[in-house]
Amino acid sequence: MSDTVRRVGIVGIGNVGIAAASAVVHENIADELYISDIDSERAKGEAWDFADSIELTPSRTRVIEVPLEGLAVCDVILVAVTERSQIPSSSRLELLKGTAAITYDIVPKLRQAGFKGTYVIATNPCDIITYLFYKLSGLPKNHVIGTGTALDSMRLRRQLSDVIGGVDPRSISAFMVGEHGDSQIAAWSHATVGGQSLDQFEEDNFDQFGKIDREQVEDAARHFGWEIHKRKGNTQFGIGNELAFFAKSILNDARVVTAASVIQNGEYGQHDLAIGVPIVLGRNGVEKIVKYRLSKKEQEGFNASAELIKGYIKQTLE
Ligand code: 2OP
Repeated sequence: MSDTVRRVGIVGIGNVGIAAASAVVHENIADELYISDIDSERAKGEAWDFADSIELTPSRTRVIEVPLEGLAVCDVILVAVTERSQIPSSSRLELLKGTAAITYDIVPKLRQAGFKGTYVIATNPCDIITYLFYKLSGLPKNHVIGTGTALDSMRLRRQLSDVIGGVDPRSISAFMVGEHGDSQIAAWSHATVGGQSLDQFEEDNFDQFGKIDREQVEDAARHFGWEIHKRKGNTQFGIGNELAFFAKSILNDARVVTAASVIQNGEYGQHDLAIGVPIVLGRNGVEKIVKYRLSKKEQEGFNASAELIKGYIKQTLE
C-alpha cells in the first residue's frame, strides 16, 4: 500500500458504483479515485461530472477514468459490476451466470496487471463472487472481502432500534451471519444494546417494550433489500456507502468490527467458502475473524446457509 497517495478504484459504474464513488469523494476517503467500466465513455462522463463538483466537496479527490488494468495501482478496488441485461432480477443468485462470467474475465486481467491491494466486493451473489475473486486473484484471503451481511446487519440494527424506542443503531451490536441472501440468520445470542445483552435489556424494559419479536425483526432485515428493489428496481445508497466505508476502514487502519463475507478456515466450523461473519477490518483487510459461540439453532442456520453457498460455488467452479 502506498505511503502517501490514497488510491481507490471502482470497477462497474452503475447505480452502486456511482453511489460508492460519491461517498468516496464526499468523505475525502481517497486522493485519487480511479473508475473503470465496460462503457468507458460513460465512465469518462462520470469522472468529468465529479470534477465539476469537487470544489464544493471537502476533498480534492482526482477522479480518473481508466481502462480495467489501470486499476492495478490502487490500494483498494471496490467491485460493483453486474450484467446489465439481468436487471432487475428476482433474486441475487439469479445474477450468478452473468457476474461469474465477468469475474472470470476481469480478475485474471487485474492479476496480470499486478494488482496487489485489497478487493471489496458488492457484486451479487456476493458470497460466491467473493470466493471466485479469491480463487482467481492469487491474493491472500485477508485481501479478498465481500460486503456480505454488513448491509443486512445495519438493517437488523435499525429494525431492532425501531422496536426498542429508537435507540441509535450505533449503540446496538447485532449481526446477520451467513449468506447475503434469504438464508442469512441473526446472531441474537451475541446482540447487545448499549452493552446489555438483549435478554437483559428486554427484561429491564419489559413494561415499556414488552417481548421483542425477534423473528419479525430478523425477517424485516432479511427482506429489506427486496422491499427497496421492488419499488425502485435496485438498491444503491446503502451498498454504495458500505463499499466506501470498507475502503475508508482499510486505508485508515480503522480496526473496526463489521460483518463481511470472508474466506473461512474453520472459525465457524466451515471451510472453502466465503460467508458473512463478524471481522476486524483494518489496513491488512481482514485483521481477524471474530468467533462467536453461536447457539445450537443459530449454528444450524449458519450451516444450512453455508451448504447453500457451497452448492453454488461448486456449480461455478465446474
Ligand atoms: C442489497 O441488499 C445490493 O444485495 C445488495 O442492497
